[in-house]
Amino acid sequence: MNTFSNPLLETSRTEQRTQEQPAPDRRVFPPDFRWGAATAAYQIEGAASADGRGESIWDRFSHTPGKTIHGDTGDVACDHYHLFRADVDRMRELGLKSYRFSIAWPRVAPDGGAPTNAAGLGFYSRLVDALLEAGITPMPTLYHWDLPQALEDAGGWANADTAPRFADYADACFAALGDRVTDWITLNEPWCSAHLGYVSGDHAPGHKDIGLGLRAGHTLLVAHGLAVQRFRARRRDGAIGLTVNLGPSHPATESAEDVAAARRWDAYMNRWFLDPVHRSDYPMEMREAFGDALPAFTDEERDTVTSPIDFIGVNYYTRAVMRHDPDSAFVQLGWADVPDAPRTAMGWEVYPKGLYETLTWLRDAYDNPLVYITENGAAYDDALAPDGGCHDPERTAYLHAHFLAAHDAIRDGVRLGGYYVWSLMDNFEWAYGYTKRFGIIHVDYATQARTPKDSAIWYAGVIRAHGPAG
Ligand code: FCB
Repeated sequence: MNTFSNPLLETSRTEQRTQEQPAPDRRVFPPDFRWGAATAAYQIEGAASADGRGESIWDRFSHTPGKTIHGDTGDVACDHYHLFRADVDRMRELGLKSYRFSIAWPRVAPDGGAPTNAAGLGFYSRLVDALLEAGITPMPTLYHWDLPQALEDAGGWANADTAPRFADYADACFAALGDRVTDWITLNEPWCSAHLGYVSGDHAPGHKDIGLGLRAGHTLLVAHGLAVQRFRARRRDGAIGLTVNLGPSHPATESAEDVAAARRWDAYMNRWFLDPVHRSDYPMEMREAFGDALPAFTDEERDTVTSPIDFIGVNYYTRAVMRHDPDSAFVQLGWADVPDAPRTAMGWEVYPKGLYETLTWLRDAYDNPLVYITENGAAYDDALAPDGGCHDPERTAYLHAHFLAAHDAIRDGVRLGGYYVWSLMDNFEWAYGYTKRFGIIHVDYATQARTPKDSAIWYAGVIRAHGPAG
């Protein structure tokens, strides 16, 4: 027996048999739990200039020599733009209850101006129809990092004017799809947009300036709040939330300096965006670290940013182990080595307990919000086997361990509504190009053939076992 055909499944079957007698080790997720998978537009769609799509910062960045491994771009990616119906069929075969995808802003507003490109919105309308027909709840993200290049040329996220532009674009999406889409995510991982895009320069648009990054973060927060307000103004039923990337920040040692370093990283990584939304200001540690370079909220901005949201989306991959580093260019923070830790192909430590820690921290820090895990998964060096399958036991083990951690969190009172595996299929992993495979479905980029990996087949079994009773 495959060791990972697992307690999640086994106990739930037992439970179905003996409904009157509570099983001692119940591992049952709520019947309406949203089992899903996630992708993002630039990572899978391709069709970079189809139907009037404009240039985004990721087109510009990936086409700039030296920015991505092998010079890879998202020009073709998984060609999902043309193959979406077959991809939805695969989702249906896996039994997914929900699908998280992102809408490409430059398809809707090609030059960053008025969001009027009906052909671009038409693609998402067809996708939504196909999903609903397959019984899959769509969960679009409005911004997964593909800012129209024209807006970057005007200052990008560091320019406060990008926020109202985003609100107009978001509203055009609500208008076009809001009759069928009920659940929305404003931004994906604004920390990555601000830090990787404007501070470290590893992502588009590739700036390396902490002041710009802090301003970008500020505009992203206002943009998020304005989009929430526009959503509420339409008075439709539904839910809107924000997705952030979180993970525990542990000190390398118990020394006061390392503990303080871990706390600074926690503020920067976990609370930069959540504290303003939920507690109406930036974390104190960020004010101490960055002084006046960190913008202050005007009263109007504060009202906007704190507009109530319906859920928090959590992307969880790993933890951080931090040490004090007086020589670091970045607020005296250094990453500590964790020798012998199991790692994915990204080099990220496999640390499932961190998901439990993150979810229970959110419960305590922000008044027990509704949470969706909007991304969790792992890259491994997968290849098709001679038998035609794709055998990825490490990914199954990774997901299994994280599902159990999520279940522990539910047991301990976390309001977890669903779980979206990253990713539905292998795709363009940003600066890593096509060298990292996160999918539960294998993609052969030469032929666009899709092959469900063993982890996908295992996941389908978990979903079946935990689907609605009956
Ligand atoms: C997250 C991103 C997603 C993907 C995963 C591996 O930070 O949201 O697009 O790249 O990491």
